[in-house]
Amino acid sequence: MPVVEHGKKKPSVTLKRVVARAAARFGLLPWLSDAYLFLKSNGMRSQRSLAYSPALPPPSLRFSSAGTSDPEWFVQSGRQAYQCLTAAVGRHLVRTAPRAVLDFGCGCGRVLRHASQDSGTRHVGVDWNRRAIRCCRKLLPFADFFHGSLLPPLHEDLGRFDLIYAFSVFTHLPLEAQKAWAREFAAHLEIGGLLILSTHGDAFAEDLSESESTLYRGGKVVIREPIAAGTNVCAAFHPGDSLLQVMPAGLRKVEFIQQGALGNPPQDLWVLVRDR
Ligand SMILES: C[S@@+](CC[C@H](N)C(=O)[O-])C[C@H]1O[C@@H](n2cnc3c(N)ncnc32)[C@H](O)[C@@H]1O
Repeated sequence: MPVVEHGKKKPSVTLKRVVARAAARFGLLPWLSDAYLFLKSNGMRSQRSLAYSPALPPPSLRFSSAGTSDPEWFVQSGRQAYQCLTAAVGRHLVRTAPRAVLDFGCGCGRVLRHASQDSGTRHVGVDWNRRAIRCCRKLLPFADFFHGSLLPPLHEDLGRFDLIYAFSVFTHLPLEAQKAWAREFAAHLEIGGLLILSTHGDAFAEDLSESESTLYRGGKVVIREPIAAGTNVCAAFHPGDSLLQVMPAGLRKVEFIQQGALGNPPQDLWVLVRDR
């Protein structure tokens, strides 16, 4: 969720890239990015003043998902995001309740923890951050969690879903990765199933640099720090209908609400349906 690094050239940029590449090679990029952003936000200082609840993920994981380690915001924003999700499902899913749901890029379960545990729905979470997945397995035993990779495929036994959602995930992926995942989601959605995503849109326009702004106004998706793909250091901004550029045939937009991704403010909300 947080958009931290700007495209401005700083003396340390080359060093950061070297470190990011080395960390990516050894699978340590999610951990390194979380630690870097958390420490930069003075997370250690705020952590000391927080009452730690064992029912919640640790502050650094809350920060990674919610952009702040504030426990109240973690719970409230997650609940709001889940309510926003169920409202969209109510508006568009033909079946009354989804049989199987995938939270892609689930982080430490900020949204999934609000799912009803006795609805008979199968809940699955996937994230490429091992620490987040370990935490979810410990705290949310009613769901299945899988450690994934930056690029598809999904774990082969996952099966099909009536609903796949990814809040604040395409906001941190380069275009090619977005395209690859959109194709993979289409392959794992039942006909009539929904894909629900959030993106950074016009509400972030003022944060863009001049060159980014030119691209954005020209209808191009802006990708900042693609080297850090899949971490909060990388940021993607989608103007207008540009998200549809990454969608394969068979996934059709049924709803777009500017700043409608409640619980992930001020991101835009997209609902797509697999119709063939
Ligand atoms: C800003 S956090 C949002 C977490 C959660 N969706 C939420 O709303 O609380 C983005 C999450 O997406 C995960 N992520 C990013 N790219 C991914 C990928 N290609 N595969 C799996 N997880 C990914 C990150 O590890 C991180 O946990």
